[in-house]
Amino acid sequence: MPKIAINGMEREVPIGTLVLDACKQAGIDIPHYCYHPALTPVATCRMCMVEVKGMPKLATSCTTTVGPAPKDNPEGLAMEIFTNTPQVADARAGVMDFLLMNHPLDCPICDQAGECKLQDYSFQYGSGDSLMREPKRRYRYEDLGAKIVIDKNRCIHCTRCVRFTKEISGGSELTVAQRGADLEVTTYSGKSLDQNPFAGNVVDLCPVGALTSRDFRFRKRVWYLKSTPSISRHSAMGDPIWMDHEANTLYRFRPRPLEGRNDTHFISDEARYAYAGLNRPDRPAKPLLRGAEASVEAIRDAIQGPVAVVGQGVFGCDAAQRFGELASSVELRYASGDKTWPIQIAAQKSTDGVINRRGFMERGFRFQALDELLAAVKSGSVKSVIFLHDAFFSSEKETALLKEIAKAAAFSVAFEVEASDLGTTCSAWLPIANHAEESDFIVNHDGELRRYQKAIEPPKGVKTVAAWAKALLPVAATV
Ligand code: SF4
Ligand code: FES
Repeated sequence: MPKIAINGMEREVPIGTLVLDACKQAGIDIPHYCYHPALTPVATCRMCMVEVKGMPKLATSCTTTVGPAPKDNPEGLAMEIFTNTPQVADARAGVMDFLLMNHPLDCPICDQAGECKLQDYSFQYGSGDSLMREPKRRYRYEDLGAKIVIDKNRCIHCTRCVRFTKEISGGSELTVAQRGADLEVTTYSGKSLDQNPFAGNVVDLCPVGALTSRDFRFRKRVWYLKSTPSISRHSAMGDPIWMDHEANTLYRFRPRPLEGRNDTHFISDEARYAYAGLNRPDRPAKPLLRGAEASVEAIRDAIQGPVAVVGQGVFGCDAAQRFGELASSVELRYASGDKTWPIQIAAQKSTDGVINRRGFMERGFRFQALDELLAAVKSGSVKSVIFLHDAFFSSEKETALLKEIAKAAAFSVAFEVEASDLGTTCSAWLPIANHAEESDFIVNHDGELRRYQKAIEPPKGVKTVAAWAKALLPVAATV
């Protein structure tokens, strides 16, 4: 690998490494707006400029790559980079001045405040003054459909959003119109972002507050939010996300990009807006036995053996392990879940919406075997069935089969977040925590282990799958 020097520090990097990335690896953050690792570089903002020895002008580090060592000196430096010279500082201050020429000072009412690159870089690299004495250009904010609002006054023309709709989501709904000071990001006539199932990503991509989410707009100042690492159940791969929350309420889900993984920068709108369904502090929180409130001990005592379990493959591995132990034998561990997600983006690798299929199979659960269980229940070789279920991840056909099994069994129990058709069919029902309310992990379709952490507290009385399974275990395992 060729050797380079960054501000005098020598290190080795592969040929072709972006100077911006090489600096990042050396612990030096280069300010940037238009660069994004998952998008084609365009070098339009000029914020990332560095000095490279031998180059007549400053170079944009987002498009300059490290080459081989000099032919006449293979041990010598391939490149000498400087990020802290007066010329670089001048260039950054000049760019900030230029970008702020038309940007309004409306930070107190801007949703991006607190996570705005313009604020951060202005503070770190700006001149603190403006040469601009003329009035700023003015636009009214516009809806780009029902999900996204654009405030063109704030746009710095980095074109990240435009490149996203062209290169990643594919609909090319956004474009730049006009020229020079009148340049504006807009949609092609008649188009909105409503048909784009990944539209919410443009809000994350926008480094300033020009693109905001209708859903989150003006709801919470971001500095009050705590971010908990989690995963999305509304995706094929268990996409890593941040759950942003405050005072036991979830406010938004955002992608949580993994280092070096461009496929983890974006989530679907389905995954993004799923937070709303998890804010249910007032849901039923008491165990039920034949429709009436009951103790878990009463439910445990009513279970007759042999016991089979049906675990849905979207719950965590710890839950699967504990839940599986309720079955009278490993052969009586069945699995459900047949949700699919159509491929809508090139980065999506699978249509299978049962995100922990591998984790359940590794723990002895068998998918595609519910007919066998129905026959066993009808023949009386299985007396009780315990379900771990979320209605969203089973088709009507599968739900009908699960209900038939529950009806045919002498006794049945459902572990659910909220009572579904299956839950009300079962003899007993136990309220479980949703995946924002517990910590666990899954093994996704690529065999990657993905952890999620508890973000909010469940309502009083609601317990995790593992806790309920433990409470049922002493009798259920021996009947
Ligand atoms: S709207 Fe935001 S992401 Fe799009 S070009 Fe303007 S600043 Fe960049
Ligand atoms: S980040 Fe390099 S020019 Fe914009």
